[in-house]
Amino acid sequence: MQFSDRMDTIPEYVVARLNRAIAEARARGVDVISLGIGDPDLPPDPRLRERLALEVQRDDAARYPTNHGEPALREAVADYYQRRFGVSLDPATEVLPLLGAKEGLAHLATAILDPGSLSLIADPGYPVYAGGPLMAGAASLPLPLLPENGYQPDLGAVSAEAAAQARLLIVGYPNNPTGAIARPGLFGELGAFANQHGIVLCHDNAYADLVYDGEPAPSALADPSFRAHGIEILSLSKSYSIPGWRIAFAVGNPEVIATLQRLKTQIDSGMFPALQRTATWLLGQTDIAGPPLATYRARRDLACTRLGEIGMPVAPPAGAMYLWVPVPTNESSLAFADRVFEQAAVAVTPGNAYGAAGEGFVRMALTIPEDRLAEAIERIGAIL
Ligand SMILES: Cc1ncc(COP(=O)(O)O)c(C=O)c1O
Repeated sequence: MQFSDRMDTIPEYVVARLNRAIAEARARGVDVISLGIGDPDLPPDPRLRERLALEVQRDDAARYPTNHGEPALREAVADYYQRRFGVSLDPATEVLPLLGAKEGLAHLATAILDPGSLSLIADPGYPVYAGGPLMAGAASLPLPLLPENGYQPDLGAVSAEAAAQARLLIVGYPNNPTGAIARPGLFGELGAFANQHGIVLCHDNAYADLVYDGEPAPSALADPSFRAHGIEILSLSKSYSIPGWRIAFAVGNPEVIATLQRLKTQIDSGMFPALQRTATWLLGQTDIAGPPLATYRARRDLACTRLGEIGMPVAPPAGAMYLWVPVPTNESSLAFADRVFEQAAVAVTPGNAYGAAGEGFVRMALTIPEDRLAEAIERIGAIL
């Protein structure tokens, strides 16, 4: 059998690798505590499940959908953006359903990049920011997000040559894995940069509803210069604890939306109609609770305190559902994560899985109950 040369460049996704290691250890009877995967553990609002069950019963729920999505769904997304972010969207041309943000991010790279072109990507960042360009045969240039810059990109550090070669730039706030939120003015700066260099911008807004204190997270599209040059990807996975349902949207610049849609007509046949209708209903509700913020906050605070006690101090993140923890020994991120897995049976993700600037950190997801979180930290403390 022969496979494409491209596949030699494409590693197994970090979570897939971790899931396999966890499953193997559990099959051997090991009590693994997983802090590795940002998979909301609390069930969605029961009304959401009831609604989906109802929609599945409709005869036409089994028919082929279209990539463009039902008009009512696109209208519901536009209404939601107006209400939630004060951003007005044309439902006909500025909204596209995605089978999860991951799908959209991966295909966006194929829609925009050629071999030899360049994508500027947040580093550390969601691994698909790098995986998408790899699949398109294009290159990525990391935009390092460093603690001393509050995990914000420094556009001034991008060389003139790289800026000229770049076609796409991807960032996401509240940020996975650092938990940082976008600094004021960032989206406007990105818009000016894109305008100067002819770059398409993408803001990955997967954690829009996961900000612990202060102002809710904005949409990048609220900035007119960003909006002129880019799109935002909004996922419902974390906001409503429904990651398995695969519901997200690309919204914004109509040219980018139309190009992504054309590509997707060759790949998938659109979102399951029952999910489209459930999402249409959900986006119109104002009394369905968002993510369990109080639960995540309590876990965050407990974990930060306990980590400090074992000699792994970490600042509480402002958003998202992860702790971005400095490695407390002189091991690499991977060596430390492997040792924690082997010796403490706790799964954490090595920071370098999110990019080179993630070296020196591990990510811990706050998606397990407090008692198990406390136990995981105690186990790590015992092997330091
Ligand atoms: C920053 C970021 N973007 C996108 C996603 C994927 O979202 P979805 O479930 O909609 O594919 C995740 C999931 O962890 C994420 O952390």
